[in-house]
Amino acid sequence: MSNSSEAELLHTFKGIPFTTRSSPELLESLDTFDAREDDVLLVSYPKSGTHWLAGVITKLYTTQVTITSPIEFGDISRLEELNKLSSKRIIPTHLDYNMLPPNFKNKKCKMIYISRNPKDTAVSMFHYYRDNPNLPTVDTWTAFFDLFLKGNVVCGSWFDHFLSWAEHEDEKNILFLFYEDMKKDLPKVVKEITLFLSLNVSDNDIQDICKKSSFSEMKNDTEKENSDLSHTVCSLTSNRKLIFRKGAVGDWKNYFTPKQNIRFQETFNEKMKLSKM
Ligand code: A3P
Repeated sequence: MSNSSEAELLHTFKGIPFTTRSSPELLESLDTFDAREDDVLLVSYPKSGTHWLAGVITKLYTTQVTITSPIEFGDISRLEELNKLSSKRIIPTHLDYNMLPPNFKNKKCKMIYISRNPKDTAVSMFHYYRDNPNLPTVDTWTAFFDLFLKGNVVCGSWFDHFLSWAEHEDEKNILFLFYEDMKKDLPKVVKEITLFLSLNVSDNDIQDICKKSSFSEMKNDTEKENSDLSHTVCSLTSNRKLIFRKGAVGDWKNYFTPKQNIRFQETFNEKMKLSKM
Protein backbone atom coordinates (compact mmCIF):
# COMPACT_ATOMS: atom_id res chain seq x y z
CA MET A 1 0.00 0.00 0.00
CA SER A 2 1.22 3.46 -0.77
CA ASN A 3 1.93 6.04 1.92
CA SER A 4 2.46 8.89 -0.49
CA SER A 5 0.05 11.77 -0.33
CA GLU A 6 -2.60 12.41 -2.90
CA ALA A 7 -0.90 15.67 -3.90
CA GLU A 8 2.33 13.83 -4.77
CA LEU A 9 0.60 11.17 -6.84
CA LEU A 10 -2.27 12.92 -8.58
CA HIS A 11 -2.76 16.08 -10.59
CA THR A 12 -5.85 17.39 -12.29
CA PHE A 13 -6.09 18.12 -15.99
CA LYS A 14 -9.30 19.57 -17.48
CA GLY A 15 -11.06 18.64 -14.25
CA ILE A 16 -10.00 14.97 -14.33
CA PRO A 17 -7.52 13.44 -11.84
CA PHE A 18 -4.49 11.77 -13.49
CA THR A 19 -1.50 10.15 -11.84
CA THR A 20 1.86 11.84 -12.21
CA ARG A 21 2.69 8.99 -14.61
CA SER A 22 0.78 11.12 -17.17
CA SER A 23 2.69 14.37 -17.45
CA PRO A 24 0.70 17.61 -17.90
CA GLU A 25 2.84 18.40 -20.97
CA LEU A 26 1.86 15.10 -22.58
CA LEU A 27 -1.82 15.62 -21.79
CA GLU A 28 -1.56 19.14 -23.18
CA SER A 29 -0.06 17.92 -26.43
CA LEU A 30 -2.43 14.98 -27.05
CA ASP A 31 -4.51 17.09 -29.43
CA THR A 32 -1.59 17.20 -31.85
CA PHE A 33 -1.29 13.41 -32.04
CA ASP A 34 -1.16 12.05 -35.56
CA ALA A 35 -3.45 9.00 -35.71
CA ARG A 36 -3.26 6.47 -38.53
CA GLU A 37 -6.35 5.13 -40.23
CA ASP A 38 -5.57 1.56 -39.21
CA ASP A 39 -4.98 2.34 -35.52
CA VAL A 40 -7.27 0.44 -33.18
CA LEU A 41 -8.11 2.08 -29.86
CA LEU A 42 -8.88 0.01 -26.81
CA VAL A 43 -10.83 2.23 -24.47
CA SER A 44 -11.90 1.70 -20.88
CA TYR A 45 -12.44 3.19 -17.49
CA PRO A 46 -9.82 1.49 -15.24
CA LYS A 47 -10.66 -1.98 -13.93
CA SER A 48 -13.19 -2.83 -16.61
CA GLY A 49 -11.35 -5.79 -18.15
CA THR A 50 -8.91 -3.93 -20.39
CA HIS A 51 -6.12 -6.52 -20.04
CA TRP A 52 -8.50 -9.35 -20.77
CA LEU A 53 -9.70 -7.67 -23.95
CA ALA A 54 -6.13 -6.77 -24.94
CA GLY A 55 -5.08 -10.39 -24.41
CA VAL A 56 -7.85 -11.59 -26.71
CA ILE A 57 -7.31 -8.98 -29.42
CA THR A 58 -3.58 -9.51 -29.79
CA LYS A 59 -4.19 -13.24 -30.31
CA LEU A 60 -6.58 -12.55 -33.19
CA TYR A 61 -3.98 -11.08 -35.52
CA THR A 62 -1.67 -13.16 -37.66
CA THR A 63 0.08 -10.07 -39.00
CA GLN A 64 2.41 -8.00 -36.87
CA VAL A 65 0.68 -5.67 -34.44
CA THR A 66 2.03 -3.74 -31.48
CA ILE A 67 -0.03 -3.20 -28.40
CA THR A 68 1.41 0.01 -27.08
CA SER A 69 1.28 1.33 -23.54
CA PRO A 70 -1.60 3.80 -23.02
CA ILE A 71 -1.43 6.98 -25.05
CA GLU A 72 -1.72 9.15 -21.93
CA PHE A 73 1.12 7.38 -20.11
CA GLY A 74 4.53 9.03 -19.88
CA ASP A 75 6.02 12.39 -20.76
CA ILE A 76 6.09 14.50 -23.87
CA SER A 77 8.43 12.07 -25.70
CA ARG A 78 5.60 9.54 -25.81
CA LEU A 79 3.96 10.83 -28.97
CA GLU A 80 7.23 10.70 -30.90
CA GLU A 81 7.78 7.11 -29.72
CA LEU A 82 4.35 6.11 -31.00
CA ASN A 83 5.02 7.89 -34.29
CA LYS A 84 8.13 5.82 -34.83
CA LEU A 85 6.32 2.47 -34.61
CA SER A 86 6.16 0.94 -38.04
CA SER A 87 3.71 -1.89 -37.29
CA LYS A 88 -0.03 -1.60 -36.88
CA ARG A 89 -0.81 -0.05 -33.50
CA ILE A 90 -3.36 -1.12 -30.92
CA ILE A 91 -3.47 1.80 -28.53
CA PRO A 92 -5.08 1.51 -25.09
CA THR A 93 -6.46 4.51 -23.30
CA HIS A 94 -8.52 5.49 -20.26
CA LEU A 95 -9.26 8.92 -21.75
CA ASP A 96 -12.72 10.37 -21.65
CA TYR A 97 -14.14 10.82 -25.21
CA ASN A 98 -13.74 14.58 -25.02
CA MET A 99 -10.01 14.31 -24.34
CA LEU A 100 -9.29 11.89 -27.15
CA PRO A 101 -6.92 13.30 -29.82
CA PRO A 102 -9.27 14.63 -32.53
CA ASN A 103 -7.32 12.84 -35.25
CA PHE A 104 -8.67 9.47 -34.09
CA LYS A 105 -12.18 10.83 -34.56
CA ASN A 106 -11.52 12.53 -37.90
CA LYS A 107 -9.87 9.44 -39.35
CA LYS A 108 -12.70 7.23 -38.04
CA CYS A 109 -10.25 4.83 -36.40
CA LYS A 110 -11.82 1.72 -34.96
CA MET A 111 -12.38 1.97 -31.22
CA ILE A 112 -13.51 -0.70 -28.79
CA TYR A 113 -14.96 0.50 -25.50
CA ILE A 114 -15.17 -2.09 -22.74
CA SER A 115 -17.42 -1.43 -19.80
CA ARG A 116 -18.27 -3.28 -16.60
CA ASN A 117 -20.90 -3.07 -13.89
CA PRO A 118 -19.69 0.07 -12.06
CA LYS A 119 -20.26 -1.60 -8.68
CA ASP A 120 -17.75 -4.33 -9.53
CA THR A 121 -15.50 -1.72 -11.12
CA ALA A 122 -15.55 0.24 -7.84
CA VAL A 123 -14.59 -2.83 -5.78
CA SER A 124 -11.83 -3.75 -8.22
CA MET A 125 -10.52 -0.18 -8.12
CA PHE A 126 -10.61 -0.15 -4.31
CA HIS A 127 -8.18 -3.10 -4.28
CA TYR A 128 -6.08 -1.42 -6.96
CA TYR A 129 -5.84 1.71 -4.81
CA ARG A 130 -4.67 -0.41 -1.89
CA ASP A 131 -2.08 -2.42 -3.82
CA ASN A 132 -0.75 0.10 -6.30
CA PRO A 133 2.00 2.45 -5.06
CA ASN A 134 1.13 4.90 -7.86
CA LEU A 135 -2.25 5.59 -6.28
CA PRO A 136 -3.03 7.42 -3.03
CA THR A 137 -3.60 5.53 0.21
CA VAL A 138 -7.16 4.63 0.98
CA ASP A 139 -7.92 3.20 4.38
CA THR A 140 -11.37 1.72 4.16
CA TRP A 141 -13.95 0.58 1.65
CA THR A 142 -16.37 3.14 3.11
CA ALA A 143 -13.95 5.97 2.37
CA PHE A 144 -13.28 4.68 -1.14
CA PHE A 145 -16.98 4.22 -1.88
CA ASP A 146 -17.58 7.93 -1.24
CA LEU A 147 -14.65 8.96 -3.41
CA PHE A 148 -15.81 6.72 -6.26
CA LEU A 149 -19.39 7.93 -6.15
CA LYS A 150 -18.25 11.56 -6.25
CA GLY A 151 -15.80 10.87 -9.07
CA ASN A 152 -12.86 11.91 -6.87
CA VAL A 153 -10.73 9.05 -8.12
CA VAL A 154 -8.16 8.69 -10.84
CA CYS A 155 -9.75 9.08 -14.31
CA GLY A 156 -12.68 10.88 -12.70
CA SER A 157 -16.30 9.83 -12.52
CA TRP A 158 -17.22 6.41 -13.93
CA PHE A 159 -20.55 7.91 -14.97
CA ASP A 160 -19.02 10.84 -16.87
CA HIS A 161 -16.52 8.53 -18.58
CA PHE A 162 -19.18 6.06 -19.66
CA LEU A 163 -21.61 8.77 -20.78
CA SER A 164 -18.95 10.62 -22.78
CA TRP A 165 -18.47 7.46 -24.86
CA ALA A 166 -22.06 6.18 -24.82
CA GLU A 167 -23.15 9.37 -26.61
CA HIS A 168 -21.32 7.94 -29.62
CA GLU A 169 -22.86 4.50 -29.53
CA ASP A 170 -24.35 4.88 -33.02
CA GLU A 171 -21.01 5.57 -34.66
CA LYS A 172 -20.00 2.61 -36.78
CA ASN A 173 -16.33 2.81 -35.86
CA ILE A 174 -17.04 2.30 -32.14
CA LEU A 175 -17.85 -1.11 -30.68
CA PHE A 176 -19.23 -1.32 -27.14
CA LEU A 177 -18.49 -4.44 -25.15
CA PHE A 178 -19.42 -5.51 -21.63
CA TYR A 179 -17.23 -7.49 -19.22
CA GLU A 180 -20.28 -9.47 -18.10
CA ASP A 181 -21.00 -10.58 -21.69
CA MET A 182 -17.40 -11.78 -21.99
CA LYS A 183 -17.84 -13.81 -18.81
CA LYS A 184 -21.10 -15.27 -20.05
CA ASP A 185 -20.11 -16.21 -23.60
CA LEU A 186 -16.57 -15.24 -24.56
CA PRO A 187 -16.58 -16.96 -28.00
CA LYS A 188 -19.67 -14.95 -28.99
CA VAL A 189 -18.02 -11.66 -28.02
CA VAL A 190 -14.77 -12.65 -29.74
CA LYS A 191 -16.71 -13.42 -32.92
CA GLU A 192 -18.25 -9.94 -32.70
CA ILE A 193 -14.77 -8.43 -32.34
CA THR A 194 -13.46 -10.30 -35.39
CA LEU A 195 -16.37 -9.03 -37.50
CA PHE A 196 -15.82 -5.49 -36.26
CA LEU A 197 -12.09 -5.64 -37.01
CA SER A 198 -12.68 -7.47 -40.32
CA LEU A 199 -10.48 -10.36 -39.26
CA ASN A 200 -10.92 -13.85 -40.60
CA VAL A 201 -10.58 -16.22 -37.65
CA SER A 202 -12.00 -19.76 -37.68
CA ASP A 203 -14.39 -20.94 -34.98
CA ASN A 204 -11.76 -23.45 -33.84
CA ASP A 205 -9.17 -20.73 -33.44
CA ILE A 206 -11.69 -18.61 -31.54
CA GLN A 207 -12.30 -21.48 -29.12
CA ASP A 208 -8.57 -21.89 -28.65
CA ILE A 209 -8.02 -18.16 -28.08
CA CYS A 210 -10.83 -18.14 -25.49
CA LYS A 211 -9.20 -21.01 -23.58
CA LYS A 212 -5.88 -19.19 -23.53
CA SER A 213 -7.61 -16.02 -22.34
CA SER A 214 -9.33 -17.45 -19.30
CA PHE A 215 -8.68 -15.70 -15.99
CA SER A 216 -6.61 -18.62 -14.65
CA GLU A 217 -4.49 -18.93 -17.81
CA MET A 218 -3.79 -15.20 -17.92
CA LYS A 219 -3.01 -15.03 -14.22
CA ASN A 220 -0.74 -18.08 -14.45
CA ASP A 221 1.08 -16.66 -17.46
CA THR A 222 1.79 -13.51 -15.52
CA GLU A 223 2.86 -15.38 -12.39
CA LYS A 224 5.13 -17.67 -14.37
CA GLU A 225 6.51 -14.53 -15.96
CA ASN A 226 5.59 -15.84 -19.38
CA SER A 227 4.57 -12.36 -20.34
CA ASP A 228 6.32 -9.04 -20.27
CA LEU A 229 5.78 -8.10 -16.64
CA SER A 230 6.66 -4.50 -17.17
CA HIS A 231 4.08 -3.98 -19.89
CA THR A 232 0.50 -3.18 -19.01
CA VAL A 233 -2.31 -1.55 -20.88
CA CYS A 234 -3.19 0.53 -17.84
CA SER A 235 -1.61 3.95 -17.41
CA LEU A 236 -1.68 3.50 -13.61
CA THR A 237 0.87 0.70 -13.23
CA SER A 238 3.55 -1.26 -15.08
CA ASN A 239 3.16 -4.24 -12.80
CA ARG A 240 1.02 -6.93 -14.44
CA LYS A 241 0.80 -8.85 -11.18
CA LEU A 242 -1.56 -6.19 -9.82
CA ILE A 243 -4.10 -6.82 -12.55
CA PHE A 244 -5.40 -10.36 -12.01
CA ARG A 245 -7.23 -10.32 -8.68
CA LYS A 246 -10.50 -12.28 -8.74
CA GLY A 247 -12.02 -11.92 -12.20
CA ALA A 248 -15.60 -12.40 -11.02
CA VAL A 249 -19.01 -10.89 -11.64
CA GLY A 250 -20.91 -9.66 -8.58
CA ASP A 251 -18.05 -9.28 -6.09
CA TRP A 252 -19.68 -5.96 -5.13
CA LYS A 253 -22.20 -7.92 -3.06
CA ASN A 254 -19.36 -8.78 -0.66
CA TYR A 255 -18.60 -5.08 -0.08
CA PHE A 256 -21.68 -2.87 -0.56
CA THR A 257 -23.86 -2.35 2.50
CA PRO A 258 -27.62 -2.13 1.77
CA LYS A 259 -27.40 1.65 2.35
CA GLN A 260 -24.47 2.03 -0.03
CA ASN A 261 -26.35 0.02 -2.62
CA ILE A 262 -29.34 2.36 -2.41
CA ARG A 263 -27.11 5.44 -2.65
CA PHE A 264 -25.27 3.98 -5.63
CA GLN A 265 -28.49 3.04 -7.36
CA GLU A 266 -29.93 6.55 -6.86
CA THR A 267 -26.82 8.15 -8.35
CA PHE A 268 -26.82 5.62 -11.18
CA ASN A 269 -30.47 6.27 -12.03
CA GLU A 270 -30.01 10.02 -11.92
CA LYS A 271 -26.81 10.13 -13.98
CA MET A 272 -27.81 7.52 -16.53
CA LYS A 273 -31.37 8.66 -17.17
CA LEU A 274 -30.46 10.28 -20.48
CA SER A 275 -28.44 7.33 -21.74
CA LYS A 276 -30.11 4.94 -24.18
CA MET A 277 -27.71 2.16 -23.23
P1 A3P B 1 -11.03 -7.80 -10.33
O1 A3P B 1 -10.20 -6.82 -9.58
O2 A3P B 1 -12.49 -7.68 -10.02
O3 A3P B 1 -10.54 -9.19 -10.19
P2 A3P B 1 -8.31 -3.89 -16.11
O4 A3P B 1 -7.58 -4.81 -16.99
O5 A3P B 1 -9.19 -2.93 -16.86
O6 A3P B 1 -7.40 -3.20 -15.14
O7 A3P B 1 -9.36 -4.73 -15.26
C1 A3P B 1 -8.90 -5.60 -14.26
C2 A3P B 1 -10.04 -6.49 -13.85
O8 A3P B 1 -10.28 -7.46 -14.87
C3 A3P B 1 -9.69 -7.27 -12.59
O9 A3P B 1 -10.93 -7.46 -11.89
C4 A3P B 1 -9.16 -8.56 -13.20
O10 A3P B 1 -9.15 -9.66 -12.31
C5 A3P B 1 -10.14 -8.76 -14.34
N1 A3P B 1 -9.61 -9.69 -15.36
C6 A3P B 1 -8.40 -9.67 -15.94
N2 A3P B 1 -8.26 -10.70 -16.80
C7 A3P B 1 -9.42 -11.40 -16.75
C8 A3P B 1 -9.89 -12.59 -17.39
N3 A3P B 1 -9.13 -13.27 -18.25
N4 A3P B 1 -11.14 -13.02 -17.09
C9 A3P B 1 -11.91 -12.33 -16.21
N5 A3P B 1 -11.52 -11.21 -15.57
C10 A3P B 1 -10.29 -10.75 -15.84
